Order: sequence, then C-alpha cells, then structure tokens
Amino acid sequence: MVVASENSENPPDRVDREVQVYSYYRDAELHASSLIYRLLRVLKDDEAQLLLSEHLSDETAHAWQWTERIKELGRVPTPITDGYQVQIAKRAGVPRKPLDLLALTVVVEQRALERYREHLKREGVPERTLEVLRSVSKDEDWHIDWVNKKAREIATAEGSPELYDQAIDRYRAIDREVWAEFKDVERSWLEAL
Ligand SMILES: [Fe+2]
Ligand SMILES: [Fe+2]
Repeated sequence: MVVASENSENPPDRVDREVQVYSYYRDAELHASSLIYRLLRVLKDDEAQLLLSEHLSDETAHAWQWTERIKELGRVPTPITDGYQVQIAKRAGVPRKPLDLLALTVVVEQRALERYREHLKREGVPERTLEVLRSVSKDEDWHIDWVNKKAREIATAEGSPELYDQAIDRYRAIDREVWAEFKDVERSWLEAL
C-alpha cells in the first residue's frame, strides 16, 4: 500500500500558490476591516455602532482565518502591495462621505463573496480551505444587507435616495475595471492549485 506522504499531497509549488491566493484573500479582509473601522468613526448612532462593531469583528476574524490556514501550511502570509482593494483605492480614492463609504463597502463585499463562491465551485479544493471559504462567506450576506439598508436610510433622510444608487453605480464601474485586470490572474492561480 502506498501511503501518500504530506509532501506528495502538498508539493512545495502547490503550497506556494495556495499561500499566494490565501494571502490575497487575507489582504482583502484586512482592507475591508479598515473600511469598517473608518465607518465606526463617522456613523455615530447607536444602531450603527453596534452593527459596525460586530461587522469589524467578523472582518478581522476572516483575516485571521486565512492567516491560520497559511500557518497550517507552515508558512507566513505573503506581503500584498497590489491587491484588489489597493487598485480600487488608486482609482476611487478614499471616500469621506458616509454614503460613499457605505457604497464602497457593499461593492467590495459583493466582490469578496463572488471570489469565494467561485473558489467553492472548484474541484479538488482541500477540505480545510472549503471550511474557511464557507465560514467567511456565511457572514457576507448580513454585512451586505445591513450596510445597504443603512445607506438607503441615510440617503432618504437627506432627501436624495438616488444619491446612494449613484454611488453604487460609480463604485461598481470602478470595481469592474479593476476586476477585468485581476480576474484572469486570479483564475490562473486557482487553476494551478
Ligand atoms: Fe470578510
Ligand atoms: Fe464582510
């Protein structure tokens, strides 16, 4: 009987590619945390403070789950300087208005969820990675829902509900531009796993 050694299951180049993909996911989660932290400082009402605190806790937990996954592979996260969110910030700048921050949050959260769902559909994904993908994806729905709801409330209270839709359209256009450059690269990494 041939027992597969850990090395044959996890050849070094496969581990390199896994670490690269998980490091990009981790980077996106850390940037999401930073957006939520910004929102904590501008949305002062009680409900927003409670929801944002839980949201921030989730995003940092997601970053930690990817970090743990990388640790399990005996590695450390690769520093990421050109990730999806950095590209978004280069084009969109860092918004100051709450409505823009909320719209940007929804757009980047939807992108994160789509990345994870695409990864979940692939074959041969290690069980532990599936576990992390499922765990981080399950929080994204409530994140997107409450942020959307809050943004609509603010836009309506300001008398211009269309402002939120316009902000979403603006950030979605930027996201599409960035993703057009990013998706083939990310797909090629996933295919090589
Ligand atoms: Fe997340
Ligand atoms: Fe999220």
